[in-house]
Amino acid sequence: MGISDLSITIEKSFSHLREREIESILSLGNGYIGTRNSLEEFYPDCNPASFIGNMYVQGPDDEFNFLVKIPDWTRIKIYVDDELLNLRTQEVIENSRSVNFAEGIAVREWKNKDKHGRITNIKILKYISLANKNGMGKLLVIKPENYTGNIRVTTGIDCGVAEFGYLLNMNSESRNFALVHMKTKYSDRELKIFQKSTFEAKDVHIYYIENSYNGSYENFEWRAELGKCYAIESLCSLNGHPMDSFDKNFDQHKAKWAERWQESRILIKGNVYDQRLVNFATYHLVNSGEFSGNSCSIPARNLSGESYMGHVFWDTEMYLLPFFILTKPEIARALLMYRYNTLNGARQNAINEGYKGASYAWESTDTGLEAAPSVAILPNGEVIPILSGKHEIHISPDIAYTVWKYWEATGDEDFLVNYGAEMIFETARYCESYITKEDDGLYHINKVIGPDEYHELVDDNAYTNYLVRNNFDVAIKTKEKLNIKDEETERWKEITDKIYSGLNPKTGLYEQFKGYYNLEYIDLNEYEPRTVPMDVILGREKTSKTQVVKQADVLMFMFLFGGRFSKEDVAINYDFYEKRCGHGSSLSPSIHCIIAARTGKIQDAYRYFLKNAQIDIGNEFGNAAGGVHIASAGGAWMSVVMGFAGLYYAEDGFWFDPHLPEEWESIEFSIVWKGERKDIYIDRESIIAT
Ligand code: BGC
Repeated sequence: MGISDLSITIEKSFSHLREREIESILSLGNGYIGTRNSLEEFYPDCNPASFIGNMYVQGPDDEFNFLVKIPDWTRIKIYVDDELLNLRTQEVIENSRSVNFAEGIAVREWKNKDKHGRITNIKILKYISLANKNGMGKLLVIKPENYTGNIRVTTGIDCGVAEFGYLLNMNSESRNFALVHMKTKYSDRELKIFQKSTFEAKDVHIYYIENSYNGSYENFEWRAELGKCYAIESLCSLNGHPMDSFDKNFDQHKAKWAERWQESRILIKGNVYDQRLVNFATYHLVNSGEFSGNSCSIPARNLSGESYMGHVFWDTEMYLLPFFILTKPEIARALLMYRYNTLNGARQNAINEGYKGASYAWESTDTGLEAAPSVAILPNGEVIPILSGKHEIHISPDIAYTVWKYWEATGDEDFLVNYGAEMIFETARYCESYITKEDDGLYHINKVIGPDEYHELVDDNAYTNYLVRNNFDVAIKTKEKLNIKDEETERWKEITDKIYSGLNPKTGLYEQFKGYYNLEYIDLNEYEPRTVPMDVILGREKTSKTQVVKQADVLMFMFLFGGRFSKEDVAINYDFYEKRCGHGSSLSPSIHCIIAARTGKIQDAYRYFLKNAQIDIGNEFGNAAGGVHIASAGGAWMSVVMGFAGLYYAEDGFWFDPHLPEEWESIEFSIVWKGERKDIYIDRESIIAT
């Protein structure tokens, strides 16, 4: 695998073990449609999948809904004199795949020698339009290198990989184009995928459509002459016949990518490899966001894989929104509107659990109703309860936090007044009904799960309490802005003053939750090098009795509220918790990078930067096959901008406290502040914002 400045290439690829991981890291998307980058002719090792951001389905016996796998629009099969070209059974002279980040194009170059010695050169380009929400395209170029012969290309939409348990094939009767028409089995949604191709060479050829239960294909057959190039351009689209020309669509797509790179790009001078890692992250961030929001959000693995079933977590607000708020606020607004549009589901969750206000789903889909499973079955058959859906309540104040951060950076009053305020008030009401006042006169939050999921049903998780307190804080500020004076506000003021924090003012250390210090200390160094998470090594039960934490928890709120803590206090907590963190989540290393950078521990920060930025490219967690870890892409962007460049912001402005890694000479990027784009340049001597 090679990663160059603006692309990633998989050379000579066909690795049974890595195929599915490659499909994820080379995936394509525009926030509404996402497609894994599978080999077009399909082999058993492949796991092709496409998703539509808001196409969730649920059967009568399912506990929750999930994103359904739709038919695969990328299928292409090539036959030379009726022999199917095949990577596994024929000689592969060359087969490389890459994604050109700058233009959002997947490129495959394949030189194949069949059993009769015929060499065929093939080039395939695929894209999902960044300019047109419903558009996709593929371009196939074929050149017979040492023969003249009959070539047949079957290109179209494969239903075989779709989830037929949840989709009904309505069997289309198209004539001059390919069309798959499906309906969801247990709801009332329709899906149509069209494809219309043109044979560029316009040589004499036969064209026909094949429609069956398994898909809809356009077929081209012609006599191909030695050394001549033949191109087939296919425009695909969702729910409407593609009307434009291939070139026009493709040009619009490329122009949009150029624009989005301009707005999103980070330039690092001094280290080419790090630049490439950041480009990889930026590519996935841009493709995750463009048409996301409003009716759907960005799932934990983007639209690039089946892990987490397309569910949306706090990952979006805490790891992706910072990038969108500061580089493309309109996308941030659309993503927050998704939370507004699912507020009724959140209200229902609160009612279901006997609380007031709105309780956002820990795992959210199109309805906002809780979609976290209640049990999981381990590989050994053991059934374990999953408590996050009921107890990982920090998701609600996390959303309130992000609504406020969006407002601080954009000054978007319309959003705050008409949508944000309601979310902030409703989540505050939920928190108020969850919290209890105890005999010590303080407010406590019991039986929760913090970001560190190794410890369940803990009392007074410092992260949760801090975020809940902030929820009240911003609710009070919003009420002041709207001139609302009422009893509720008075109650919230009292809670913010008296909520238990876990801080020991003498040491500056926060206890992650009540009783944490009494747990067994484990020296994590003794388990290095390790490739599996600590809860797998120690077992779930045992891990919960130790101080090993899954991911940044205390350090997470110190990052989110960075401007409030002294560097010394942050360093005290970093020194304590870093030793105890097992990094069992891909969300963990980036926060450690930022905290270490902000406190001047640059070598640590750099180590964590690499650990995070290589999560998918290096398959660090061993599970990239399930889709890209989009939060770690956001984490990479945050590591540079909020860690090394040291960006902090509040309502009245932004400021920098940079700590560049040794090898980096300078960093450049742009941010949008209250509607104006600012170009930032930072090196060891200067910070320039223009
Ligand atoms: C992490 C959560 C995260 C989820 C989805 C879990 O392993 O602990 O914080 O939201 O994965 O990425």
